[in-house]
Parts: sequence; C-alpha cells; structure tokens
Amino acid sequence: MAGTDRIEDIRKEVTALAGAAPNAKELMQQMVTLLHERMLKYNWVGFYMLEPGAPPPTLVLGAFEGAMTPHTRIPLNQGICGAAASSGQTVVVDDVSKDPRYLACSLETKSEIVVPVFVHGKVVGELDIDSHFSAAFTPEHQTLVQYCAELVGKKLESAAR
Ligand code: SME
Repeated sequence: MAGTDRIEDIRKEVTALAGAAPNAKELMQQMVTLLHERMLKYNWVGFYMLEPGAPPPTLVLGAFEGAMTPHTRIPLNQGICGAAASSGQTVVVDDVSKDPRYLACSLETKSEIVVPVFVHGKVVGELDIDSHFSAAFTPEHQTLVQYCAELVGKKLESAAR
C-alpha cells in the first residue's frame, strides 16, 4: 500500500497541476494520468460528468486511464457511480463482489471509490477509481481522492465566473 509520504507527494503534484492547467478539461486529463501512473493500486481512474440539460440525468465517461469500460453512460439510479452522484456522497466499496449496485468494468476489480465533483454546491460529475486490490481506499486515500475532486470543482468554478 502506498504510504502517507507518497500520498503527500501526490497531493503536492496534483496541487501543482491544478495551478498550471489552463482549464478543467486539461486538469482532469493530467490528473487521471498522474494518479494512474503513480498510485500503484489505482488501476482504473476516470471522470464521469453529468450530461448538461439532458433529462433523465446521465453520467458520461470523460477523461480516463486504464482499460476501456463498457460503461460509457451511467444513469443516476445505476451503479456505484450513480449512487455517489445522486447522493452527493463519497462511496467507498472494499469488496465490489458484495455490493449489488456494482457495475463491472474489469473482472480484476476488487475495490472502488467514487467521489462527487461539486460546482457551487451542485454535483456536476465524479472521480471514479477502481483497484485490483480489495479495500485499497483507506481513509488517507479517501482524503486524497476527495482533494483531487475538489481541485477540479474549483477549476470549473473559476471558468464559470
Ligand atoms: N463500477 C462502476 C462503473 C464504472 S467502471 O468501474 C469504470 C459502478 O458500479 O458504477
């Protein structure tokens, strides 16, 4: 498991990315690449964004790193992704085989975290990470992934001003 030092390094690196990225789209691409390359247990890293103005609301796959997923569009009432976006809460699943909401992306996936991205208090999307290791997303990882999602939310807010 990545130690606290490594998490602190990654936190500094994503902070630098957020400061330098010209827009949220670039930031999301650079962030998924960084997290996927550097965090050894983050085996699939991607953003799903809510489709604007399209009832019923649907999550659409955005920037990602890892194997192609069959789930490029996820309704809010489906999957762990739908649960996180509709509740506005981070969802951590230590063993996806025991969660009936889970939509399989890779047979190797054992655990998953999904963190909503907020713009002015409203969910606009989410950061989804899958691991080939069970219970990969300890509270320290949860804090890091939530920080990443916050950086993207702030970048989107600064563009919307
Ligand atoms: N496992 C997710 C679907 C997305 S893939 O993991 C990339 C879910 O249950 O919503």
